[in-house]
Amino acid sequence: MSTVILNGRELSQTLFEEQKKKVEDLVRLKGRPPGLAVVLVGQDPASETYVRNKRAACKKVGIHAPDINLPPDVPQAELVHRIDSLNRDPSIDGILVQLPLPSGLSKDEVLYRIDPDKDVDGFHPLNVGKMLIGLETLTPCTPTGIMTLLDRNGIRISGKNAVVLGRSLIVGKPMALLLMARDATVTVCHSRTANLQEETRRADIVVAAMGKPLMVTADFIKPGAVVIDVGISRTADGKLVGDVDYASVFPVASAITPVPGGVGPMTIATLLDNTIRAFCFREGIPLQPARKNA
Ligand code: GUN
Repeated sequence: MSTVILNGRELSQTLFEEQKKKVEDLVRLKGRPPGLAVVLVGQDPASETYVRNKRAACKKVGIHAPDINLPPDVPQAELVHRIDSLNRDPSIDGILVQLPLPSGLSKDEVLYRIDPDKDVDGFHPLNVGKMLIGLETLTPCTPTGIMTLLDRNGIRISGKNAVVLGRSLIVGKPMALLLMARDATVTVCHSRTANLQEETRRADIVVAAMGKPLMVTADFIKPGAVVIDVGISRTADGKLVGDVDYASVFPVASAITPVPGGVGPMTIATLLDNTIRAFCFREGIPLQPARKNA
C-alpha cells in the first residue's frame, strides 16, 4: 500500500492563488482590499516567526495587513484600547492577537474584546457558541484548515471513526466539533485518557494535537488510517518534529501530513480565508462556499 503525503504547503499555494483572484474581484467591487491586523505583543521568537509568515501571506494575496507590534510590558488597558480602535477601523476586517501573550496580560479579556465579526481566530465565545450549534461563523484556523486538507485530498469523513488527541480550545475541541458536523464518530483523548493506544487503534482518522513530540508511533495506528500531525517542536539537534513519529507511522498509514509542510501552511491559508469571509460578511456579500459546522 502506498502512503499519500498530505502536502499542506503545496495546497496552501493553490489556495493563495485562488484568494489572490478573489481579493482582486473584491477590490473591484468595493474599492478596498480585506484588512487583517496581526497584533504581536513582545518578542517571543516562535511568535515572531508565525506573525512574519502570516503577514507575508497577506501581502502575497493582496490583503491589507498593517504591522502592529507592541512591547512586552504594554499595559493591559492600552492593549484593550488598541483592540477597541481596530474594532472601529473600517479598513480592518479581521483582528488576530498572536498567542501566547507575555505573562501579566489577560488573554481572555483581550480575545473577548475583539468584535466577533472581526474574530478571524474564531476564539470569541459568541463564535464558539455559533460553531457548537452549527451556525455559519468564523471557525478556528487550524482545525478548519485540516478539514480543507482532508476534503481537497478526497478523504471521506462521514461515518469514519476519528480520534482527536488533545482538547485545547485552539485545536482539539473545535476539531472534534467540525469532524462531528461532517458525520464522523469522534473520540477526544487527552493526557488522562486510559488506554490511549486502544482508542487510537480504532481510528480511521487520527488528529494528533497533544504537543508531545514523537508520541504517536506505529503501534498507535490502525493500518490504512489517515494521520494528521498538528504538533511542531524543535529537537535538541535543531530538527523540527511533530507529535507523530513520521518514520515509523508512514508505512502503516494510508495518508499522513509531514512536519513541517503539513498542517502549518493550512492554518495560514485558512486565516486569509477567514479574513476574506469577514470582509464579505461586513460588506454584505454572500459567503461562498458555505462551510458546514454542524
Ligand atoms: N498561537 C498558536 N496558534 C495560534 C492561533 O491559531 N491563533 C493565535 N492568535 N495565536 C496562536
